Amino acid sequence: MRIVRPRRIFEFGTFLGYSTSLFLANSDPGCDVASIDLGDIASELAEAASYSDAELRSDDRKNDDHLRLTQSRLGPLYLRDLDETDRRRLTLLH
Ligand SMILES: C[S@@+](CC[C@H](N)C(=O)[O-])C[C@H]1O[C@@H](n2cnc3c(N)ncnc32)[C@H](O)[C@@H]1O
Repeated sequence: MRIVRPRRIFEFGTFLGYSTSLFLANSDPGCDVASIDLGDIASELAEAASYSDAELRSDDRKNDDHLRLTQSRLGPLYLRDLDETDRRRLTLLH
């Protein structure tokens, strides 16, 4: 990021916003950052809450559903305490 110095970043898969927060922290103040995730789909994935660790490690579909459910329930935790400047250049999409 520091070599390329992008003017725009688009991320697929916000999850809890950790990589999004790194994009904001390491890009120029003029760089716009957008990130997309699936929004509130917790009700469709309730079953994913009961998957075991072994299932999550061995079944990529179950692992995906677990990530989607976690994102839907917790939202972008790492983006809660952004300063005003970073908040203005971030767009979160669902
Ligand atoms: C491995 S996580 C992303 C990790 C994240 N960038 C981080 O810093 O922790 C994958 C994310 O992609 C999201 N996702 C899966 N399918 C998607 C789709 N079709 N469109 C947008 N987001 C999707 C999931 O909800 C999940 O939050």
